[in-house]
Amino acid sequence: MTRKKETIKIAVLASGRGSNFIAIADAISRGEINADIAFLFSNSKEAKAIEAAEKRGIKTKVVDSRSLSKEEYDKKLIEVLTEEEIDLVLLAGYMKIVGKALIETFPLRIMNIHPSLLPSFKGLHAQRQAIEYGVKVSGCTVHFVDEGMDRGPIIIQSAIPVLDDDTAESLSNRILIEEHRLYAKAVKLFAHGKLRVEGRKVFIDSK
Ligand code: GRF
Repeated sequence: MTRKKETIKIAVLASGRGSNFIAIADAISRGEINADIAFLFSNSKEAKAIEAAEKRGIKTKVVDSRSLSKEEYDKKLIEVLTEEEIDLVLLAGYMKIVGKALIETFPLRIMNIHPSLLPSFKGLHAQRQAIEYGVKVSGCTVHFVDEGMDRGPIIIQSAIPVLDDDTAESLSNRILIEEHRLYAKAVKLFAHGKLRVEGRKVFIDSK
């Protein structure tokens, strides 16, 4: 079972607009999740998510990935996360590959959200891939992060029908609404000690 402390400390890693970060921060502010966001981290000072964090009074940390080697950048990120004694790392539109050292420092304590029903349509533009493939159902997945791309143990998924006249954009918009609900739900399950992992399988304690 995931650790149950009074209040877990979360760090959110985002590179872009940050709507999933906002959804989780707002669910915490409404008292739906017993957790604190210690800081929002970004690899780019241009990320819109930074403004959203500042507006909510959440601390921000930026390490510009362009000015460092991959090793230096990863080392810095691990330092920042361990210094603050982070319990859970959330990737929310974080456009960097998570290195082995970070995964080993936070085993089963890094989550990601992906806009498809994994293992279908891994990688970039998952919604466009779904439209082009012609699937009738797509959706979103929250999973733990391991060394494979979009491959770690699946925590929860939600299905969204693909309509005949959907474009990548219209499908993305509908999936995104569901992402916000699903990610907050997964974080709540973790924060409240309801997740147990055995190999690839994640069990949810329904009590
Ligand atoms: C989301 O669609 C998420 O599933 C994917 O990247 C997008 C990030 O959006 N990993 P946002 O920055 O949270 O608005």
